[in-house]
Amino acid sequence: MTTNNWWQKSIVYQIYPKSFQDSNNDGIGDLRGIINRLDYIKELGVDIIWLNPIYRSPNVDNGYDISDYQAIQPDFGSMADFQELLDKIHQKNMKIMMDLVVNHSSDEHEWFKASRQGKNNSKRDFYIWRDPVDGHEPTNWGSYFSGSTWTLDKTSGQYYLHLFAKEQPDLNWESPQMRHSVYDMMNWWADKGVDGFRMDVINLISKPAKFQDGSVDLGETYADVEPIVSNGHKIHQYLQEMNKNVMKHHNLVTVGETPAASPDDAKKYANLDSTELNMVFQFEHMSLDANKNPALGKWGDRRTTLSELRANLTKWQLALTNKAWNSLYWNNHDQPRVVSRFGNDCPEYRVVSAKMLATMLHFMQGTPYIYQGEELGMTNANFDNLTDYKDLETLNIYQQLVNDEQLVSSTTMMNYIKLHSRDNARTPMQWDNSTNAGFSQQQPWLAVNPNYPEINVKTELADENSVFHYYQKLIKLRHTMPVITDGRYQLIDGNELDEDVFTYIRENADTKLVIILNFTNQTITRNYQLPIKKTLLISNYTEDLGSTLRPYEAKVYKI
Ligand code: NOJ
Repeated sequence: MTTNNWWQKSIVYQIYPKSFQDSNNDGIGDLRGIINRLDYIKELGVDIIWLNPIYRSPNVDNGYDISDYQAIQPDFGSMADFQELLDKIHQKNMKIMMDLVVNHSSDEHEWFKASRQGKNNSKRDFYIWRDPVDGHEPTNWGSYFSGSTWTLDKTSGQYYLHLFAKEQPDLNWESPQMRHSVYDMMNWWADKGVDGFRMDVINLISKPAKFQDGSVDLGETYADVEPIVSNGHKIHQYLQEMNKNVMKHHNLVTVGETPAASPDDAKKYANLDSTELNMVFQFEHMSLDANKNPALGKWGDRRTTLSELRANLTKWQLALTNKAWNSLYWNNHDQPRVVSRFGNDCPEYRVVSAKMLATMLHFMQGTPYIYQGEELGMTNANFDNLTDYKDLETLNIYQQLVNDEQLVSSTTMMNYIKLHSRDNARTPMQWDNSTNAGFSQQQPWLAVNPNYPEINVKTELADENSVFHYYQKLIKLRHTMPVITDGRYQLIDGNELDEDVFTYIRENADTKLVIILNFTNQTITRNYQLPIKKTLLISNYTEDLGSTLRPYEAKVYKI
């Protein structure tokens, strides 16, 4: 299997610009703030910076509603600031990955403004319009952000499709003119010097040939749209066309966000000939703790068991070997904080469990992604009041489940929100223990996590045992040990059903690594009969007690 592509050896750091660093004290992070913090990112040791959308946007969905793909959102700065950021990232020998949001645009994009002018407008078919059926929405599809996927345009009497908010109309990939306008825009950014694209919900762009109602589970008003629109019949055709028109002409890295993609889908999207994308973000391990009641979706309080997690990650590791390339992630701007979700964020175990989870991920095969603050062991926000949350997904689902459908009590829903709201990831980056965690002098757009006096960059840089320094070591190991990139993944015999300890092996022709991870807060014993001659590569405890594993202990032996 070829593992020589630069992006296979890279580590990506994801920045959510709105929450990273505010340089002009308006409470909103910006490009200049990122420029001022590049030394910090470089010190961590990563290779690529992925920026969430920074394009002009009315901000209904924090930049995932783009009104001009070739302009910078004024809150974030100017195109000159962007150019400076790009140049400085390159000077520091790092690369930059842009977010590409082309399943939908904003309803304030010029294309949509023209399209909604009427049936005869030349941009009408840039979006997806349908006549009412029996005076109603064309189908019963439910949007990702609650309510119908259809909004009526009174002037023309037709509905337009939006899988997300009504301000995020879906682009019509059936239109060759629309597709080529997207490729032109991508080439414009690539010519500017950007090094890659993270493609938002890219496997939703090919809609079904025939629009039909989906099935509705008990308690739901609308049908789940995801199985209806994901991995559609023309998706590979579109991605191959995009690849020929854009990727082939530049040395880019591409990662597709692909909800509902199976390993078989991923083998096509991220095939090793790179005829489509380089890798995908799969969602399965992020959905293991979803509510058993489909009407509640991700909103629940179940924790993933270790056997579920191991079985799932092992399935992906094995299925993609020699066929496609994995991306590895615990966190992003849509997911709760990993230490709160899969580890233990109480003060006694936060650091050790954050390091254990990092070890699990960073020794697997694929390209690791680190989301801002993950390298500090930042935790969920734990806000008590709904008014502290700003994300439209959270606010809409509360309205839907508590007020409209009355499926969940307010107290239960607040607990679910504390566990799953996307705002858990979006609280401002914690730089130091000064006002607003050093993020801004002004009240930030979203409250800072109150634990910032204990958890922040300044404290962690000064402490050689911090989560930050542990991530730094993991990154160095990946850069220096080819087995982490190219080794075979294998479970250790008998570990498949262990509910407490996850142990796996990575092995190539010269090196064998054994990764041992205690997922519990208990001291337990596991004897794997490992050879006496072995080196401890990294561990989150200073002393090695052999077969005794302390709470959340992680250790990696080289054999
Ligand atoms: C996925 C993005 O990650 C999320 O933040 C956004 O709300 C939706 N796509 C819609 O663009």
